[in-house]
Amino acid sequence: MTESTVNGSLAGQRRGFMIVCDGSNGAGKTTLIDNLCRHLRGRGLEVVVTREPGGTTIGERIREILLSPDTPEMCDLTELMLFGAARAQHVREKIIPALEAGKAVLCDRFDSATLSFQHYARGLDLALVESINALALGGFRPDLYLFLDLDPAIGLERVRQRGAALDRLEAEQLAFLQRAREGYLAQARREPRRCKVLDADRDIASVTGEAIALVEQLISSMPDPASGGGRGA
Ligand SMILES: Nc1ncnc2c1ncn2[C@@H]1O[C@H](COP(=O)(O)OP(=O)(O)O)[C@@H](O)[C@H]1O
Ligand SMILES: [Mg+2]
Repeated sequence: MTESTVNGSLAGQRRGFMIVCDGSNGAGKTTLIDNLCRHLRGRGLEVVVTREPGGTTIGERIREILLSPDTPEMCDLTELMLFGAARAQHVREKIIPALEAGKAVLCDRFDSATLSFQHYARGLDLALVESINALALGGFRPDLYLFLDLDPAIGLERVRQRGAALDRLEAEQLAFLQRAREGYLAQARREPRRCKVLDADRDIASVTGEAIALVEQLISSMPDPASGGGRGA
């Protein structure tokens, strides 16, 4: 790992692009990532699908600690720093190398989730959350955030129908999840060019179609070879 990678002068080195899908549980993040992955691969791009917390061996171990339902005693600051630690590893070990190799990275949750859950929902100080995010990111930012916006009650119902058990964060009260939802909307207002809100209370095809249009817009705004011309299959 080079010194510049460690110190985070990363923004100018990438050739690929990174898209984050985020939002309430059950909003359709995994479904959308599957569909975007198929679209991008069909377009001849190499795609890396990853998630937070996780994405690396170390990150997946941290994920187990974070999401385990049997540790309700976890302090808010511990939680914040574990998310940050997983992200620091993820960015340096996996995301930046993929982008430098010209790949498209699709990530399920990212720093946007930390802002929504730890600041807007949990109530941790904004400057504190932003400073941990900044340390983990080292100056790096994804190119596009797709926020799937859905009433958390509907999202939970979708998750229940899927038959999955709720993890520690999913089991939070609806008011908490509603504050997190508002956190995503606030982030999109703050950074409207990079962060797009998609109404997730529609059929999957409509949500996917809108997302693909935004992704195509991003790709066409990028210099070659990210347009796909130079690295097609
Ligand atoms: N737009 C949609 N409308 C109805 N059901 C959906 C929609 N998107 C996803 N689902 C279903 O809801 C459940 C949760 O979707 P998923 O993609 O796993 O959400 P997330 O990853 O955000 O938790 C799945 O069973 C999925 O098939
Ligand atoms: Mg999912």
